Amino acid sequence: MDKNKVNYFFATYNRFPIHIDYGDGVYLFDIEGKKYLDFFGGLAVNSLGYNDADIRRAITDQIDKYIHLSNYFIQEPQQQLAKLLATHTGYKKVFFTNSGTEAIEGAIKITRKWGIPSGKSEIIAFSNSFHGRTLGALSLMDRNKYRDGFGPFLPNCKIIPFNDPIVLEKTIDENTAAVFLEFLQGESGIIPATEKFIVTLKQLQNKYKFLIVADEIQSGIGRTGKLFFFEHFDINPDIVVVAKALGGGLPLGAILGNNSVADILTPGTHGSTFGGNPVACAAGVAVLNKIINERIMENAERIGKYLFHHLHELQKKYPAIIKYVRGTGCMIGIELDRECTSIVTTMREQGILINCTNTNVIRLLPPLIIKEEHVDHFIKELKQILSSLK
Ligand SMILES: Cc1ncc(COP(=O)(O)O)c(C=O)c1O
Repeated sequence: MDKNKVNYFFATYNRFPIHIDYGDGVYLFDIEGKKYLDFFGGLAVNSLGYNDADIRRAITDQIDKYIHLSNYFIQEPQQQLAKLLATHTGYKKVFFTNSGTEAIEGAIKITRKWGIPSGKSEIIAFSNSFHGRTLGALSLMDRNKYRDGFGPFLPNCKIIPFNDPIVLEKTIDENTAAVFLEFLQGESGIIPATEKFIVTLKQLQNKYKFLIVADEIQSGIGRTGKLFFFEHFDINPDIVVVAKALGGGLPLGAILGNNSVADILTPGTHGSTFGGNPVACAAGVAVLNKIINERIMENAERIGKYLFHHLHELQKKYPAIIKYVRGTGCMIGIELDRECTSIVTTMREQGILINCTNTNVIRLLPPLIIKEEHVDHFIKELKQILSSLK
């Protein structure tokens, strides 16, 4: 890359030293023609890989009609996507956003307003979770890495340990308006909720009547073999927030709500200029139709098991280096005994893109369309690197 280039950006991103030219299927190609197998997946956005023909067609067809209309107008792509979401999830109401953090903000507003008549105002969230970068979302997180220097945060938000049913029981009471959680924590290293924790949460909800908000921004839209990760448990959250994969690469998120919150937002109480952009929603319709109708979730589940099997074999071979392999479907964390940045760098040099989260966890978020041959290639390269480590 040109070393003399002026850096115009706030220093928010540590960019990779590669310059992508284009993507095709599960591969990215840089401007020098080097090919990368993508197990990074745009951090869970590129579920259908790159240049998917149906997404491209949906986008270009919509661009030919209109690119933007104010939300004062009824828009066909929004109608179609809302109907698809409601039909396949059972949720009654949808609000479209541009991003995950905006969906969280909207959900916070809904839960606050919902709690007013019964005097409930407290929101409970969990340690090591990640809900976004806006101040409301940061108020539900405890990691200094994201929060330091940006306070003060929202009042009446309590962060307690994840997967600790005893603390949960001690904390929740009649003042609890909502509990926000990632049933499968992503940024913190792919940590699933335990069955006992979710059973306790449900019992407490029956007793105290509060809202459960599932953050499915990273784990949702088929990534774990089901439309939402929480479906692996026997629970129906009142609100679900999604984003990332929903727009097929265009900025799109959504808040889904059940009957208990269906009447909370009234005209003018919430809104967004761009939220539910018709081009993004048209892409969303193509994404959902494909994921649901073309057995993409089944592939995510099947290939996830294949990947797990091979990672467990690697763990048996290198037990001192690989501590845990966690996750479901195509959302997998490999916890190492060491920082993983150098492994990520070497893999990239070998033509495979992966991500390191929480310093020592290799996070795999491949497109849901990967096949055995891609997993075999990934495992072969990872094995080679592990064999060279002390
Ligand atoms: C679980 C979770 N929630 C919320 C967000 C925030 O989404 P966005 O970056 O679209 O604002 C993310 C992003 O990584 C996420 O993984």
